[in-house]
Amino acid sequence: MRQTLEEKVVWITGASSGIGRALAVEAARRGARLLLSGRNEAALRETAERCGAASAHETGSSKGGTVSAQRASRTKFEHASSHETGSARPECVILPFDLADLSACAAAARRAEAIFGRIDVLALNAGVSQRAKFAETAPEVFDAIVRTNFSASVALTRAILPGMRARDSGTIVAISSVAGLMGAPWRTAYSASKHALAGFFGSLRAELHGSGIQISMVYPGFVRTAISENAFAGDGSKHGELDPLQQAGQDPAETARLVWNSVGAGALEIKVAFDFKARLGVFLSRHVPGLFVRSISRHGGL
Ligand SMILES: NC(=O)c1ccc[n+]([C@@H]2O[C@H](COP(=O)([O-])OP(=O)(O)OC[C@H]3O[C@@H](n4cnc5c(N)ncnc54)[C@H](OP(=O)(O)O)[C@@H]3O)[C@@H](O)[C@H]2O)c1
Repeated sequence: MRQTLEEKVVWITGASSGIGRALAVEAARRGARLLLSGRNEAALRETAERCGAASAHETGSSKGGTVSAQRASRTKFEHASSHETGSARPECVILPFDLADLSACAAAARRAEAIFGRIDVLALNAGVSQRAKFAETAPEVFDAIVRTNFSASVALTRAILPGMRARDSGTIVAISSVAGLMGAPWRTAYSASKHALAGFFGSLRAELHGSGIQISMVYPGFVRTAISENAFAGDGSKHGELDPLQQAGQDPAETARLVWNSVGAGALEIKVAFDFKARLGVFLSRHVPGLFVRSISRHGGL
């Protein structure tokens, strides 16, 4: 049966930019109630405003131009801390925290569940990439990438899963990468963290088989976001350059539409923005690893 996002409580990490922001806006358009996380509060507010506009616009178009009072109220959003002071129930709440701080993850999950009383969809989208060889990546930078991309996803899942199990319903969407399906130079920590997501969620999915909980893994190829600019150099500074493959990548709004359509259809393994280069890379790395390593080294990575 096709699932919709109408009235679902959707918690999206990394909602302050790129794919996460687009997932949030698209979910709002589909009638979801949203929790938006990231560290950049101002950027989360901007996402919330765009969600409000998308939600109101959608209702406006579906009702022949009249924005209904109920859906129009979704243009309101709040900060999680003001929500706790007892104001009227909002439809979009921002919940900023740092995923690299694992103790903050459990606390954020408790607050997130308290706000709407449940989490129906947990979209583990936040991530940081890497542009430095292993030998030049400081151990603490390597660890921060693995914590942000993998360990934080485990911590949030550990906190949210009991509620989903009690209701026997829920969806976890984990955003991996083409680098979660093959190795790539200058991305040892990034690629390892994305492979770890597949191992963890593939195993958890098998444990939950027969329950009402869906786990969908998403493998984006190349999407037009700031992921490479925000990537860590070996010393933890920002790489600061937009890679040509991202520059020419898919519009994140299109990525978001495809992801929610596939998740709604019950797909468990989802490839998006997966162009010929991504498909060829994954194929060669599996079946012709010698040729793959020569080619990817010559081309300087993905
Ligand atoms: N773009 C692509 O081509 C591509 C390809 C494959 C996979 N992906 C994956 O897609 C996901 C989204 O990336 P994107 O392309 O949209 O890049 P992006 O624009 O750089 O977004 C990354 C998001 O992650 C959040 N984030 C990073 N570190 C965080 C931390 N320590 N604590 C909390 N939030 C943190 C950022 O929020 P703050 O800065 O506000 O903290 C931001 O919202 C990532 O998992 C990435 O690996 C992207």
